[in-house]
Amino acid sequence: IQKTFLMVKPDGVKRQLVGDIVDRFERKGFVLKGAKLMQVSQELAEKHYAEHADKPFFGELTEFITSGPVFAMVWEGENVISVARLMMGATNPEQSAPGTIRGDYSTTLSHNVIHGSDSLASAEREIGLFFTEEEIH
Ligand code: GTP
Ligand code: MG
Repeated sequence: IQKTFLMVKPDGVKRQLVGDIVDRFERKGFVLKGAKLMQVSQELAEKHYAEHADKPFFGELTEFITSGPVFAMVWEGENVISVARLMMGATNPEQSAPGTIRGDYSTTLSHNVIHGSDSLASAEREIGLFFTEEEIH
Protein backbone atom coordinates (compact mmCIF):
# COMPACT_ATOMS: atom_id res chain seq x y z
CA ILE A 1 0.00 0.00 0.00
CA GLN A 2 1.40 3.38 -1.03
CA LYS A 3 1.74 6.75 0.67
CA THR A 4 2.05 10.06 -1.12
CA PHE A 5 2.78 13.67 -0.22
CA LEU A 6 0.18 16.25 -1.25
CA MET A 7 0.30 19.96 -0.48
CA VAL A 8 -2.27 22.70 -0.96
CA LYS A 9 -0.12 25.59 -2.19
CA PRO A 10 -0.40 29.16 -0.80
CA ASP A 11 -2.95 30.16 -3.48
CA GLY A 12 -5.22 27.23 -2.51
CA VAL A 13 -4.99 28.05 1.20
CA LYS A 14 -5.76 31.73 0.54
CA ARG A 15 -8.74 30.75 -1.61
CA GLN A 16 -10.04 28.49 1.20
CA LEU A 17 -9.90 25.34 -0.91
CA VAL A 18 -8.36 23.10 1.80
CA GLY A 19 -11.70 21.58 2.87
CA ASP A 20 -12.80 20.80 -0.69
CA ILE A 21 -9.46 19.21 -1.50
CA VAL A 22 -9.39 17.03 1.64
CA ASP A 23 -13.00 16.05 0.91
CA ARG A 24 -12.17 14.86 -2.62
CA PHE A 25 -9.44 12.49 -1.43
CA GLU A 26 -11.53 11.22 1.52
CA ARG A 27 -14.54 10.53 -0.71
CA LYS A 28 -12.28 8.68 -3.15
CA GLY A 29 -11.38 6.31 -0.30
CA PHE A 30 -7.85 7.42 0.52
CA VAL A 31 -6.83 7.68 4.17
CA LEU A 32 -5.34 10.84 5.70
CA LYS A 33 -2.24 9.86 7.67
CA GLY A 34 -0.78 13.29 8.49
CA ALA A 35 -1.64 16.95 7.93
CA LYS A 36 -0.52 20.41 9.00
CA LEU A 37 -0.78 24.06 8.07
CA MET A 38 2.77 25.38 7.89
CA GLN A 39 5.06 28.06 6.55
CA VAL A 40 7.68 26.65 4.13
CA SER A 41 11.16 28.08 4.77
CA GLN A 42 13.45 29.12 1.91
CA GLU A 43 15.70 26.15 2.77
CA LEU A 44 12.83 23.63 2.63
CA ALA A 45 11.54 25.18 -0.61
CA GLU A 46 14.94 24.77 -2.27
CA LYS A 47 15.20 21.14 -1.11
CA HIS A 48 11.66 20.32 -2.16
CA TYR A 49 12.14 21.80 -5.64
CA ALA A 50 15.80 20.67 -6.04
CA GLU A 51 15.01 18.94 -9.36
CA HIS A 52 14.06 22.35 -10.79
CA ALA A 53 17.14 24.21 -9.46
CA ASP A 54 18.53 24.94 -12.94
CA LYS A 55 15.18 26.00 -14.50
CA PRO A 56 14.60 29.68 -15.30
CA PHE A 57 11.48 29.73 -13.11
CA PHE A 58 13.19 28.32 -9.97
CA GLY A 59 13.24 31.72 -8.22
CA GLU A 60 9.54 32.27 -8.88
CA LEU A 61 8.79 28.73 -7.70
CA THR A 62 10.48 29.09 -4.29
CA GLU A 63 9.16 32.64 -3.87
CA PHE A 64 5.61 31.45 -4.46
CA ILE A 65 5.73 28.37 -2.21
CA THR A 66 7.13 30.48 0.67
CA SER A 67 4.64 33.35 0.12
CA GLY A 68 2.10 32.11 2.69
CA PRO A 69 1.06 29.00 4.60
CA VAL A 70 0.64 25.67 2.81
CA PHE A 71 -1.41 22.67 3.92
CA ALA A 72 0.90 19.63 3.85
CA MET A 73 -0.60 16.13 3.87
CA VAL A 74 0.33 12.46 3.76
CA TRP A 75 -2.28 10.19 2.16
CA GLU A 76 -2.38 6.41 1.97
CA GLY A 77 -4.15 4.04 -0.42
CA GLU A 78 -4.01 1.69 -3.37
CA ASN A 79 -1.93 3.38 -6.12
CA VAL A 80 -2.44 6.70 -4.35
CA ILE A 81 0.62 8.32 -6.01
CA SER A 82 -0.65 8.07 -9.58
CA VAL A 83 -4.37 8.31 -8.75
CA ALA A 84 -3.81 11.53 -6.78
CA ARG A 85 -1.95 12.96 -9.80
CA LEU A 86 -4.96 12.10 -11.98
CA MET A 87 -7.30 13.80 -9.49
CA MET A 88 -5.04 16.88 -9.46
CA GLY A 89 -5.07 17.24 -13.25
CA ALA A 90 -2.32 18.28 -15.64
CA THR A 91 0.24 20.94 -14.70
CA ASN A 92 -0.58 22.96 -17.82
CA PRO A 93 -3.95 24.71 -17.29
CA GLU A 94 -4.80 24.24 -20.98
CA GLN A 95 -4.71 20.50 -20.41
CA SER A 96 -6.16 20.03 -16.91
CA ALA A 97 -9.60 18.49 -17.39
CA PRO A 98 -12.78 19.78 -15.74
CA GLY A 99 -13.49 17.65 -12.67
CA THR A 100 -9.84 17.65 -11.63
CA ILE A 101 -8.60 20.01 -8.90
CA ARG A 102 -6.49 22.10 -11.26
CA GLY A 103 -9.10 21.85 -14.02
CA ASP A 104 -11.76 23.18 -11.66
CA TYR A 105 -9.74 25.82 -9.81
CA SER A 106 -6.72 27.06 -11.75
CA THR A 107 -6.02 28.93 -14.95
CA THR A 108 -2.30 29.53 -14.43
CA LEU A 109 0.79 27.33 -14.58
CA SER A 110 2.53 28.74 -11.53
CA HIS A 111 -0.49 29.21 -9.22
CA ASN A 112 -1.93 25.75 -9.61
CA VAL A 113 -3.38 25.09 -6.14
CA ILE A 114 -1.82 21.71 -5.33
CA HIS A 115 1.40 19.71 -5.40
CA GLY A 116 1.58 15.91 -5.49
CA SER A 117 4.55 13.53 -5.54
CA ASP A 118 5.18 12.13 -9.02
CA SER A 119 6.81 8.77 -8.14
CA LEU A 120 7.49 6.37 -5.26
CA ALA A 121 10.97 7.85 -4.84
CA SER A 122 9.64 11.45 -4.73
CA ALA A 123 6.87 10.44 -2.32
CA GLU A 124 9.35 8.95 0.15
CA ARG A 125 11.71 11.90 -0.23
CA GLU A 126 9.02 14.57 0.17
CA ILE A 127 7.27 12.86 3.12
CA GLY A 128 10.67 12.77 4.83
CA LEU A 129 11.28 16.46 4.10
CA PHE A 130 7.93 17.67 5.49
CA PHE A 131 6.97 15.18 8.23
CA THR A 132 8.59 13.47 11.21
CA GLU A 133 7.63 9.85 11.91
CA GLU A 134 5.61 10.98 14.96
CA GLU A 135 3.46 13.19 12.73
CA ILE A 136 2.30 10.26 10.61
CA HIS A 137 -0.56 8.28 12.17
P1 GTP B 1 3.95 19.81 -8.74
O1 GTP B 1 2.98 18.80 -8.23
O2 GTP B 1 3.70 21.19 -8.17
O3 GTP B 1 5.38 19.38 -8.63
O4 GTP B 1 3.61 19.98 -10.27
P2 GTP B 1 3.98 19.03 -11.46
O5 GTP B 1 4.71 17.81 -10.98
O6 GTP B 1 2.71 18.84 -12.22
O7 GTP B 1 4.97 19.93 -12.30
P3 GTP B 1 6.55 20.05 -12.23
O8 GTP B 1 7.10 19.25 -11.10
O9 GTP B 1 7.08 19.82 -13.59
O10 GTP B 1 6.72 21.59 -11.89
C1 GTP B 1 6.62 22.04 -10.55
C2 GTP B 1 5.80 23.30 -10.50
O11 GTP B 1 6.51 24.32 -11.16
C3 GTP B 1 4.46 23.22 -11.25
O12 GTP B 1 3.41 22.79 -10.43
C4 GTP B 1 4.25 24.67 -11.65
O13 GTP B 1 3.52 25.36 -10.63
C5 GTP B 1 5.62 25.23 -11.75
N1 GTP B 1 6.05 25.44 -13.11
C6 GTP B 1 6.28 24.51 -14.06
N2 GTP B 1 6.67 25.07 -15.20
C7 GTP B 1 6.70 26.41 -14.97
C8 GTP B 1 7.02 27.55 -15.75
O14 GTP B 1 7.37 27.45 -16.94
N3 GTP B 1 6.93 28.77 -15.13
C9 GTP B 1 6.55 28.90 -13.82
N4 GTP B 1 6.46 30.11 -13.26
N5 GTP B 1 6.22 27.86 -13.07
C10 GTP B 1 6.30 26.63 -13.62
MG1 MG C 1 6.38 17.87 -9.72
